[in-house]
Amino acid sequence: MTTDTDYKQSTSSEDEFTILKALLDASDEFVSGSVLGEQLGISRPAIHGKLEKLREQGFEIEAIRNKGYRLTQEPEVLHPALIRYYLEAASTDMAVLYFPVIDSTNSEAERQITYERKSPFAVASSCQTKGRGRLGREWYSASADNLYLSVLFEPNIPPQQLQHFTLWAGIFICRALQSFTPKAALQIKWPNDLHCDGRKFAGMLTEAKMDSDSLRSIVFGIGINLNSNPSNYPKELRKIATSLYAINGDELPINKVAARVLQAVNQAYHACIHNKTTETLPEAWEPLSSLHGKPVTALQGDKELSGIASGIDASGALLLAQPDGSTIPVCAGDVTLKK
Ligand code: BTN
Repeated sequence: MTTDTDYKQSTSSEDEFTILKALLDASDEFVSGSVLGEQLGISRPAIHGKLEKLREQGFEIEAIRNKGYRLTQEPEVLHPALIRYYLEAASTDMAVLYFPVIDSTNSEAERQITYERKSPFAVASSCQTKGRGRLGREWYSASADNLYLSVLFEPNIPPQQLQHFTLWAGIFICRALQSFTPKAALQIKWPNDLHCDGRKFAGMLTEAKMDSDSLRSIVFGIGINLNSNPSNYPKELRKIATSLYAINGDELPINKVAARVLQAVNQAYHACIHNKTTETLPEAWEPLSSLHGKPVTALQGDKELSGIASGIDASGALLLAQPDGSTIPVCAGDVTLKK
């Protein structure tokens, strides 16, 4: 049986972070060993040892006598110090806890709050053993080339203020990911899926805890099929799922993507709590909607509703246009395209 304590967090030391920051800030330039030594207050042989450790973690670091060190390649797997570096570069103040394997990043975020971890913070993983999807479904989380992220906030505000948070997070994340895949249009399928060419590559799940009439904590989780090859997915997913790698034709830089997604979640959260979006929800949604103008069927509870998807209203409900000119709002449920 697996218990919570079997999941080991992987951390980077402050020294490692300082070295990485110096190398990344220098970009293509060399950083001298004596500069690194001074920054850390350690000897050059000690710097050499720390660089060796980074090499073991997948960093390729060129060393040239009398010039110093230059980072030539980042690891292709998640690395907590790299996510931290890219988040700090984007002025996003959010601690990131990295677990190579975890049951569910949403569950770990909930556990961390019971250990009094200061929010907001993120949990990142390369593999989930009990990934959760919407409506009690399982989320396929086996591949280390994918991205599993959760962010926990403690808003302590009335829940209405964050009722559109997941929709806004979808909008911000879709725009953020689009910058990595210039060749293909990324879209949102109402309410919580990210799609490209009719196939899903990411899903979002928000879970909240209430205290009388205040929102105590909110965990936003997202699973992104990133650099995995869809032909390796379970058979039942192969026809409906894709990955950003398959969409883009090239692998994406996993740590930069993770930081960009976390930044987008943070921006969506602050836009909602400070009520400072410059556009309305329907305006922001429409150009990204994968369903717009298409005939769909919505399953709301045990009721089946049909119509032409014609955007969302200010409450976030999907609008189904009817032949008589009226529209039916769908507040929750699953939507499928009509064949
Ligand atoms: C869905 O489309 O059904 C939502 C999927 C949400 C999956 C993510 S992966 C990270 C986080 N941890 C979980 O257990 N679920 C979410």
